[in-house]
Amino acid sequence: MSETVAIAADHGGFELKSILVPELRALGFSVLDLGTTNGGAVDYPDMAERLTAAMREGQAARGVLICGSGIGMSIAVNRHRELRGALVHDALTARLARQHNDANVLVLGGRLLGSELAKDCLKTFFTTPFEGGRHARRVAKLS
Ligand code: RB5
Repeated sequence: MSETVAIAADHGGFELKSILVPELRALGFSVLDLGTTNGGAVDYPDMAERLTAAMREGQAARGVLICGSGIGMSIAVNRHRELRGALVHDALTARLARQHNDANVLVLGGRLLGSELAKDCLKTFFTTPFEGGRHARRVAKLS
């Protein structure tokens, strides 16, 4: 059975979410799309809450959050001790978020990234393993 990845966005991330959902499927994941479903204004903490609740209930072990800048979603997801959201801007930060921080939520700025750059971040994030070792000790201290 394929791993489920949860995804949620506000209106600032809706367009990018619609581009990344098929990309996640192409990477072999089942997608739990928690909205938003159109470009109407919604509040990013409410959309983040949908995803964090789904992850805390065990519906998905990893997720993607998108708002206009990525900053609001990043603040929201990191209020939960067991979740590690990483706001990334390119493949390098996506790779480091996985290798060093074992990030389990990819956070993107929908108004800041072009679609090809965002796809690159997504693919890198979901295909890069955690390095463990000294990083595991540090990550454990977070939660
Ligand atoms: C919405 O206009 C915008 O503030 C939101 O998408 C996000 O960028 C907040 O951090």
